[in-house]
Amino acid sequence: GEGQLWGGRFAGGPADALAALSKSTHFDWRLAQYDIAGSKAHAKVLNQAGLLTDEDLATMLAGLDRLAADVVSGAFGPAESDEDVHAALERGLLERVGSEVGGRLRAGRSRNDQVATLFKAFLRDHGKAIAALVTDLAAILADRAEQHHGVVMPGRTHLQHAQPVLLSHHLMAHAWPLVRDLDRLREWDARVAADSPYGSGALAGSSLGLDPVFVAKELGFTNSSPNSLDGTAARDFVAEFAYITAQIGVDVSRLAEDVIIWATKEFGFVVLDDAYSTGSSIMPQKKNPDIAELARGKSGRLIGNLTGLLATLKAQPIAYNRDLQEDKEPVFDSVDTLEVLLPAVTGMMRTLVFNVDRLEELAPQGFSLATDVAEWLVRQRVPFRVAHELAGTCVQECEKRGIELWDLSDEDLAAISPALTPEVRTVLTVQGSVASRNARGGTAPTRVTEQLAELRTRLAV
Ligand code: ARG
Repeated sequence: GEGQLWGGRFAGGPADALAALSKSTHFDWRLAQYDIAGSKAHAKVLNQAGLLTDEDLATMLAGLDRLAADVVSGAFGPAESDEDVHAALERGLLERVGSEVGGRLRAGRSRNDQVATLFKAFLRDHGKAIAALVTDLAAILADRAEQHHGVVMPGRTHLQHAQPVLLSHHLMAHAWPLVRDLDRLREWDARVAADSPYGSGALAGSSLGLDPVFVAKELGFTNSSPNSLDGTAARDFVAEFAYITAQIGVDVSRLAEDVIIWATKEFGFVVLDDAYSTGSSIMPQKKNPDIAELARGKSGRLIGNLTGLLATLKAQPIAYNRDLQEDKEPVFDSVDTLEVLLPAVTGMMRTLVFNVDRLEELAPQGFSLATDVAEWLVRQRVPFRVAHELAGTCVQECEKRGIELWDLSDEDLAAISPALTPEVRTVLTVQGSVASRNARGGTAPTRVTEQLAELRTRLAV
């Protein structure tokens, strides 16, 4: 019947309940332009194989172009009777070029190889769009690091003061995971590009002498699927994409969590820009980090999309099963989520104001220079076990008297150990501490300058 691709052997149309369950146009319509591009490539191989005359090919391609334009303008859309995007577009083609020519297009292909290919093409485009947004965020982190180069802050482990670090070092610690996400997207894309399923048919491949490699190249792939069963049945490319988007969500959520803590009255490290924060409907004084909280919340949703998808895939026998229709919505959601979230987070980070005085004031507090005392002793050839113990005794003494490490007098130090000569004071400054961590990857300003250049290079790829 109308809008249906498989009526021949059936006595009547599908039950309303089946049609309602089966229908996917409300979400797969967004693959329409990809489906039309696939049809144009397929028409060309039919022509090459002698199954479509040159004249019919020209009619077909012109009809597909008109259909594409009508999809864009909204003049053509899915009808109530259309099962999915593929059925709707076949109807649209037949309406435009007639069934004598239009009816030849479906030879040698199946919705199974079609949908697997279109979905790959769609995700490849959005993977590139997401990569651009991730690059924007990482580049803003690099810019903010550069602007604040030299500013020290408390470095924390377990959220407790640990050792002072440069603010620029901390900001770039959030950029490097994003760089790895960009690598993941690129590697994923290369893997998907080499595996165009078009030509796999329903499961067994095509008997009509059609060249799958030609179709692959027409659609921007580098090669076609080596196995038609795998080509139509595998969805690890979707799961991997969902993983990468979930990982981006988690990486952004970790940054967001820092911002949320930093913006509290107790920390007071940052002030959010008015345009990137929200108020309260009842408490007039409130300024809330909603973007950061939504980032944290949406990472849960991205993880859910991945786990739901893996559950859908886990027990499916080869080859195509209709369960696979459930592969699209979760990843469409992941794409939409990131494409809205990332620009907001980038704006928030671009406009965040750092309270430099507060960061520098807190950097040496919490005895964060105790490790420097211990390491200074090691440089005086004191065994580290002893050095650690002596620095700990210094901390204990300071805590008892409510003073800081640099307040200990020469006599106080000598009483703890004769090894603690007054020269130890050279490491009892934050700048001295930070500058001493000067091996590759350390927080010394010279290394952080190198790191920034390395980061910029990676982002320019
Ligand atoms: N709409 C389906 C999907 O998204 C493709 C159709 C394949 N249907 C079928 N009965 N073989 O997976």
